[in-house]
Amino acid sequence: MLAEIATSLTLASVYGLAQMKKDGGVGDDVKKIRQIADAIGLKKNGQSIIIRRRDPADKEKNKFYSEYIFQIPLGLAFSDFETKLNVFQDGLNIKKTLYSFSLSDIKKINIKKLMKLKSLKAKINYIKKFIKDKNSIRKSIEMSYDGMIHFKVYDQDIPNQVDFNVEKWDECNGWKLPLGENREGTVFLDLASGHFVIAGATTFGKSQLLKLMISTLLTNKPNETEMTLVDLKGGLEMQYFEDCKQTINFADDIETAVASLKHIVADIQQRQKMLRVKKVNNVKKAGINKRHFIIVDEASQLAPSQVPSKYKELAKEAQAYMSYITRIGHSMGYTLVYATQYPVGDVMPNQIKANSNTTICFRLETDTQSETVLDQKGAEQIQLQGRCILSVPSGRQQVQTYLIDDKTIKTVVTPNIVIKSRKDDTLAEVRKEGTTNRRYTLELEETEVLN
Ligand SMILES: Nc1ncnc2c1ncn2[C@@H]1O[C@H](COP(=O)(O)OP(=O)(O)OP(=O)(O)O)[C@@H](O)[C@H]1O
Ligand SMILES: [Mg+2]
Repeated sequence: MLAEIATSLTLASVYGLAQMKKDGGVGDDVKKIRQIADAIGLKKNGQSIIIRRRDPADKEKNKFYSEYIFQIPLGLAFSDFETKLNVFQDGLNIKKTLYSFSLSDIKKINIKKLMKLKSLKAKINYIKKFIKDKNSIRKSIEMSYDGMIHFKVYDQDIPNQVDFNVEKWDECNGWKLPLGENREGTVFLDLASGHFVIAGATTFGKSQLLKLMISTLLTNKPNETEMTLVDLKGGLEMQYFEDCKQTINFADDIETAVASLKHIVADIQQRQKMLRVKKVNNVKKAGINKRHFIIVDEASQLAPSQVPSKYKELAKEAQAYMSYITRIGHSMGYTLVYATQYPVGDVMPNQIKANSNTTICFRLETDTQSETVLDQKGAEQIQLQGRCILSVPSGRQQVQTYLIDDKTIKTVVTPNIVIKSRKDDTLAEVRKEGTTNRRYTLELEETEVLN
């Protein structure tokens, strides 16, 4: 009885706090957005932005954000607003009063848990913590434009760091990769959906992501995965996986890289012939379950403009093979994952970019690099390691990628290690011959591949 009285007293006091600020909801954000726009001069001839529609968040339908759609005054551009995203975000987070509650917030209090707490002090502490948590929520904004400007206002921001938990792999079926988290939870990608471009300045998370990708393949598809690993930073990042049975080719210098890529192109051509005989146009229809991933960490080391002159021809050859793989490889079961620190000029070949349908872009040094990778500015504003802009055909979003630790990687790798590494005597051959002694004559059907 005493507990019930205490509970209702505490609830009443929380409700009282909620009453302190009745304009803490939808109308308030709209008003604030307009005020901020006015304050930073985003109006024209005295005309402010005009609210046209508002869609509040609807947790039941898994809609985690409120969306406000404004018409912008004639003479202003979306980019005028987009570049001020941080100003809008900070403005929304200035609180007029210490606490801001709505009735839906109060509904979130776990009454059962509250009732179970024995002492009044514990109950008050629970409520205090709830208030503190609620008060520390930081709203964040996403902007887009379709003739009207859309402000999506989230009640919580993307986490700053998320450590990978192996249980995430249980949530993956097929070729799914748990990439990281956005404001709504885990973001999954389909590793069999096409080629990947990964860009990002040094130390922002490319190699970590590649390790997460490979560990995911080894965990969920150990018998259907084949890999060619090209690690031109001396093999330091990919060395964990060098002796896995799935690693068909491992290249840590440019000659071996070119020879391995050449080999892949030959395999693709052979497979094309085989599918022609079977009268099907892709591996799925041919009932082939294996997929081969060609993972290139630091592709700038295969760009003619970036290598010493004695390697220029080899670099041209490597790029031609990679372009070929992105044009023909996907339906033949070959996927290129192309990672680079330095996406400028010939480091980001048009064909590779155009034929890759997933781009994961970490922080880049300049807005020009961001435009090269994403066709828009923005990656230069990323501050956090592991934070990326994910671009897929259905849209773009920011994601905090998972950070996988070495211990987990080792656990995944161990059962896949083979004593005599790989099935390939082929690579040994390739290594021995290098590319100076060209034994392979490729009948490249699309002859421009070597131009
Ligand atoms: N997803 C992440 N979350 C948090 N921290 C991360 C994440 N990814 C990487 N980091 C931090 O950044 C460091 C460097 O990451 P990583 O080796 O992946 O960078 P990189 O982009 O490959 O850099 P480089 O271009 O120099 O090879 C990691 O050791 C880790 O401390
Ligand atoms: Mg790296």
